[in-house]
Amino acid sequence: MATSPTTVTITGAGGQIGYALLFRIAAGDMLGPDRPVRLRLLEIPQGLRSAEGAALELQDCAFPLLEDVEVTDDPRTAFEGCSVGLLVGARPRGPGMERADLLAANAGIFGPQGEAIGEAAASDVRVVVVGNPANTNALLASARAGAVPADRFTALTRLDHNRAVAQLIEALDVRADEIEGVAIWGNHSATQFPDVSHATARGVPVVDALAERLGGRDAAIDWLDESFVPRVAKRGAEIIEVRGSSSVASAANAAIEHVRDEQAGTGPRWTSAAVVSRGEYGVPEGLVCSFPVTSGGSGYRVVEGLDLDDRSRARFEASVAELVAERDAVRALGVL
Ligand code: NAD
Ligand code: LMR
Repeated sequence: MATSPTTVTITGAGGQIGYALLFRIAAGDMLGPDRPVRLRLLEIPQGLRSAEGAALELQDCAFPLLEDVEVTDDPRTAFEGCSVGLLVGARPRGPGMERADLLAANAGIFGPQGEAIGEAAASDVRVVVVGNPANTNALLASARAGAVPADRFTALTRLDHNRAVAQLIEALDVRADEIEGVAIWGNHSATQFPDVSHATARGVPVVDALAERLGGRDAAIDWLDESFVPRVAKRGAEIIEVRGSSSVASAANAAIEHVRDEQAGTGPRWTSAAVVSRGEYGVPEGLVCSFPVTSGGSGYRVVEGLDLDDRSRARFEASVAELVAERDAVRALGVL
């Protein structure tokens, strides 16, 4: 293989999402069929055997693009030469755990991982944080990553974006590729604002297409307010309720699409990703916030200049307020 391999680091690689990610990455679904990969799997000691088992199975697939797999519990080793980091491993909320406890536990994971990225990663490193609370974990990692530019760190809201598109596919009986202009604003949490006010389906504004199907504009707005927005924002909880544990394959798929589109470019189509705010739409600078984004192949850029009506703006601002509160809670712990 002529091209030199790209080092991809996956944290929490012995967990559920890790298992759903590894084989697709090794098969070329994320970086394409021309880019060989070298995988670095980071786990905590209790997760090492599971990651080692996955590494054995990767070997048994004999993927032509897979040059090497290394399993480690040392972040510095895991991020050595890393160009693509998927930060999946996180501390889940346990019984009786307050939000501040969760943020503190994750600060103990994402701070040191950020430092290891700053010390050891390749100069072109890009990172997506999947582990929750994903936006604030990305903020933590980027704050500790030394000279790595903060905008190399993003957090996953592509799953929310895909969930919104999926609800529209069902409601409007269209295909995914016929829907454009969906946006997820804010935090990857139940406060997020899934927005279709700029979206079209087969070139028709989504609100008009819904009005046509549901018998008028008021019915369309009701469906969006009462069904669509809460269903998308609480879909994670719905999956947990039905499956008994959080989403895995859909989350891994979204992470792969996030990295693929960031690296290969989106063209003019939007997607959604949580990126470091430069003050767009009045979001405080430095917060890792979800926006509609495009990529020309060298990182996501926020789609600017969209009009948000008062109700939409209020919803977006409520989610941004949650991000500010998370950031302030982490600051109060002295880890930011
Ligand atoms: P899991 O418990 O199956 O796997 C997590 C793995 O991370 C475990 O193997 C654990 O040993 C490992 N881990 C814990 N701390 C670590 C550390 N410091 N370094 C390396 N590895 C570590 O969980 P999962 O189902 O794979 O989910 C992982 C995370 O993804 C959770 O936080 C979950 O809430 C989140 N998630 C996010 C989205 C999203 O859209 N952003 C969607 C689904 C799940
Ligand atoms: C999801 O969106 O599926 C995950 O973030 C899990 C959760 O807690 O909602």
